[in-house]
Amino acid sequence: MDKFLIQGGQKLEGEVRISGAKNAALPLLAATILADSPIRISNMPNLRDVNTLVKLIAGLGVAIEYVGDTVTADTSTLNNQFAPYDLVKTMRASILVLGPLVARYGEAKVSLPGGCAIGSRPVDQHLKALEALGAHIEVENGYVHAKVDGHLKGGEVIFDMVTVGGTENILMAATLADGVTTIRNAAREPEITDLANMLIKMGAKIEGLDTDTLVVTGVESLHGCDYAVVADRIETGSYLAAAAITGGRVRTTHTDPALLECVLDKFEEMGAEVTRGEDWIELDMQGKRPKAVSFRTLPHPDFPTDMQAQIMAVNAIGRGFATISETIFENRFMHVPELSRMGANIQVEGNDAVVTGVEKLSAAPVMATDLRASFSLVLAALAAEGETLIDRIYHIDRGYEHIEAKLQGIGAKIKRVSG
Ligand code: UD1
Repeated sequence: MDKFLIQGGQKLEGEVRISGAKNAALPLLAATILADSPIRISNMPNLRDVNTLVKLIAGLGVAIEYVGDTVTADTSTLNNQFAPYDLVKTMRASILVLGPLVARYGEAKVSLPGGCAIGSRPVDQHLKALEALGAHIEVENGYVHAKVDGHLKGGEVIFDMVTVGGTENILMAATLADGVTTIRNAAREPEITDLANMLIKMGAKIEGLDTDTLVVTGVESLHGCDYAVVADRIETGSYLAAAAITGGRVRTTHTDPALLECVLDKFEEMGAEVTRGEDWIELDMQGKRPKAVSFRTLPHPDFPTDMQAQIMAVNAIGRGFATISETIFENRFMHVPELSRMGANIQVEGNDAVVTGVEKLSAAPVMATDLRASFSLVLAALAAEGETLIDRIYHIDRGYEHIEAKLQGIGAKIKRVSG
């Protein structure tokens, strides 16, 4: 099993090219199922999750190719609507094929994703929403079997909670439903807007982009198009955090400051100088120790849960103390015991954590537990005295493209070791 060996103490400086967003790439791939002519998506990040979904879609009979940073898909050979457990269990986002398959082919059998390390994460909202559009749903032997006679029918969907995947699934399904669908309490993450933009390019009629009410007027069919995945705001924030925690200066390019204003505000509150360009962001910590900053994770446009662990790591060496409330997921503090092994002072009570900054972290063998938590350990290791060994980094490979090369490019001493 691969591990990272990181020698801490380097002030990181330089440029990092940001990849396409994993969380946009996955719904965009699922949306290829809706197109009745070939579709081409570029700026695809080369990640394990992307490869898993490509494999799942290929298993449906779709002629799908992934070369360089571009995926091309042609659904004319699609011959089944079955997503098996062995693929779905490795990635919860596989459930995103459910809506497109039922909408276009009237039937789908998709394995339930099951629990995951950061909480139970059910899909009840996805299923309830599809039922509201007329799908008949049965859950049996760990599989969701969804069926509709003829077409889905437009209707009103009101989510009980803000769900990113649920919004995406129903948005895709509604594009081919008869009549108008109104999705209320919709998630507003930039990746949803990216999906809506591609669907519109494919011929869908969607209004209310970037708001919590999406109105979709169903069309007969959708066609292929050329599309590029939006920049990864979480990867952007993660590399800016690497500058903050090491007192360095890093410019992220091929990104968009508008995608993560709330996170940039927090970096400024830490005392960093943040400069924004049209497609770049630079963070200069000027060799200073950041001030610890409090925040609460909430749906977009508020502070993203996917940046919680990284900012907690920066707080661990911050001046003063900060309170962090995690409101999106239960059990998303699994990085805390690992950060504590490196000398961090963090007290957890339920979904709140109080971080009291320490002057120095020290290297220790640690274990990655989930994708973003893993990056927080990388950050801590970059700032720590000594050499840190991070185990189970397969979690990181799910979501950070070329992480060693990108970090080495800004001066980090990191290497991958196996065994
Ligand atoms: C997506 C992101 C993930 C991010 C999360 C929240 C992708 C591939 N993943 O995950 O990186 O951390 O949004 O921003 O885009 N819930 C239910 N029932 C449902 C659906 C969700 O109870 O049917 C709950 C979940 O357990 C969770 C909360 O709602 O507590 C938010 O989940 P959701 O927004 O759906 O997250 P994902 O789409 O899985």
